[in-house]
Amino acid sequence: MQIEIKGKASGRSEFISYDDLDLTEVLLTFLRKKGITIASSCDGEGVCKKCVIQNDWLTCEMTLKEFLQRQPNGQITVGYL
Ligand code: FES
Repeated sequence: MQIEIKGKASGRSEFISYDDLDLTEVLLTFLRKKGITIASSCDGEGVCKKCVIQNDWLTCEMTLKEFLQRQPNGQITVGYL
């Protein structure tokens, strides 16, 4: 199973794989483990609002499973990449 990370400005995409064990991981943590840089200055405390994807979803406030329930095609859009 794969997730696509797409840069809004560049149009560039990266693909990362996941398995069932990753589903309970906080999305911010999962993406960092996969080498995807997600902006953050509060380190996942839900304060800085910099870890945003899809315009207003905070990666520190959802698991990978919750993300996939909201975005079944698994595409993440970020302002940078
Ligand atoms: S990492 Fe700061 S709000 Fe998510």
